Order: sequence, then C-alpha cells, then structure tokens
Amino acid sequence: MLTITHLNKIYGGKIPYQALFDLNLNIQQQEFVGIMGPSGSGKTTLLNMVSTIDMPTSGDILINGKNPSKLSKEHLALFRRRELGFVFQDFNLLNTLTIGENIVLPLTLDKRSVKEMDERLQRISALLGIQDLLNKRTYEVSGGQAQRTAIARAVIHTPSLLLADEPTGNLDSKASRTVMEMLETINQKQGTTTMLVTHDAQAASYCHRVIFIKDGRFYNEIRRGSNRQTFYQNIVDVLALLGGNTDDVLPVR
Ligand SMILES: Nc1ncnc2c1ncn2[C@@H]1O[C@H](COP(=O)(O)OP(=O)(O)OP(=O)(O)O)[C@@H](O)[C@H]1O
Ligand SMILES: [Mg+2]
Repeated sequence: MLTITHLNKIYGGKIPYQALFDLNLNIQQQEFVGIMGPSGSGKTTLLNMVSTIDMPTSGDILINGKNPSKLSKEHLALFRRRELGFVFQDFNLLNTLTIGENIVLPLTLDKRSVKEMDERLQRISALLGIQDLLNKRTYEVSGGQAQRTAIARAVIHTPSLLLADEPTGNLDSKASRTVMEMLETINQKQGTTTMLVTHDAQAASYCHRVIFIKDGRFYNEIRRGSNRQTFYQNIVDVLALLGGNTDDVLPVR
C-alpha cells in the first residue's frame, strides 16, 4: 500500500545537506512497520516525506497508488485528512477542549454530522478503553492518557495509513506499553497500516518488521516471528551493531 522508490532528500540552504540516499521501501496493507536508526539518520525526514509534510528531492512515494506530490493543493489536503493519521511525541491536544472534543476534531474539520461523530467517538473510545476520559479536560489527564487521546484522534476517521513519530518518547515504560498495545489493537481491528519511528526497542518489538537506517541509507531489516521477547532481543542486537555507542540511539532533545 506504500511504495517508496529511489527516494532522495536534500535540504537546501547555504550548505545543502543530503538526509536520505536512494531509499527503497515496500509496505503491505495492514503491515505494522518500525523505523529505527541513530539520531540524525533521517527517520523523521522519511516520515515527513510519507506524511506529505515535506516533499522529496527525487524519487517516488505511492500511497494506495497515489503520488501525493502530484496532487493539487486541495486534493492533497483532502488526501491527508481522509487517508492519513498522525501521532507525535508531543500530544498536541487543544487545552480549551475536552478529551472527547479533541478526539472528534478531525471529523469536525471534515464537516461530518453530529450523529456520525458521536457514533465514531463511542466506537473508538470503547475499542481503546478510554470512555472514562471523554469529559475530562486535558490538564486532568496523565501523559499516557493524553497520548491515548492523541491516538484516538489520529484514527477516528479510520485512515488507511497511520504515521507515528516517537509516540512513546515522553512516556514511562508502563505508559509506553499501553500506547503500543493500542497501536497494535488499531492495526489488527481497523486494519490500519502503521509506520512507527522509535528509539525504543521495547516499542519496536510490537512491529511486524523493523527497518534500520543509518546515515540516510537503508541498513538492515528484521521480521518478528511468533515471540515478541525474542524479537526485542534481535532488535537490541542490531542496534548494538548499528550504533556502537548506545548513547547514539537515545533521543536527543
Ligand atoms: N529542515 C532541515 N534543514 C536542514 N537539515 C535538516 C532539516 N531537518 C533535518 N535535517 C538534517 O537531516 C538529518 C536527518 O534528520 P532527521 O530529523 O530526519 O533525523 P532523525 O533520524 O529523525 O533523528 P532523531 O532520532 O534525533 O529524531 C540530520 O542531520 C538533520 O540535521
Ligand atoms: Mg526524528
């Protein structure tokens, strides 16, 4: 459902910087793929190209057969609103709205009926077990609960592709696990293809496949077998080869 061919990204400026080199990637419908690599290796750059936030310098990205960079401005806006969901490290909730109002925001922007919004809100909050939060204010919930809200908001319109950049970056290990279980549930129950950028091997172990990049180039990929714990260990092993120094694979903020 996602095909990336010969992707290159050069950031302009006084000293141009090439962040991605000839990257090729194929992601199947309903696949859950992790992207890992040292800080500065180009993970966010890659995600920003796929999410249409930024445009490639050369190469093609096809999502469901469509090339976003070839869409008109209006069609691109519609494409993003309908086909894509986004989750970031910062939860980006609006403090003036309740949790429930935050979750339905994308549908409000898409001018859906109140009835549809309500049905979707009930469905997604039941699926993710966050019914008790809906009437709370953003300052009344924990970081983990805020991220669960952000995830519900990212998928309430049932996007075909969910893009998450370090969604567990600000969470402790217990809250991270809950968030990863939610992403797994959405992937399985809604059939949402998911691309997750993470530094966290535990989080990455929920993926079906993890792709490693280094210095903007494809480095390696490994697939999960039946055992998540074994996969976790395999991921840690590749990271050790990749980083050398483990500090390199910790987030730099
Ligand atoms: N807008 C920009 N202009 C110029 N260079 C940029 C820009 N954005 C990123 N870069 C450079 O491109 C490289 C890749 O950055 P990117 O943010 O994709 O890394 P990353 O793998 O997401 O790192 P991290 O793990 O720290 O989030 C880095 O060297 C960065 O300095
Ligand atoms: Mg990044």
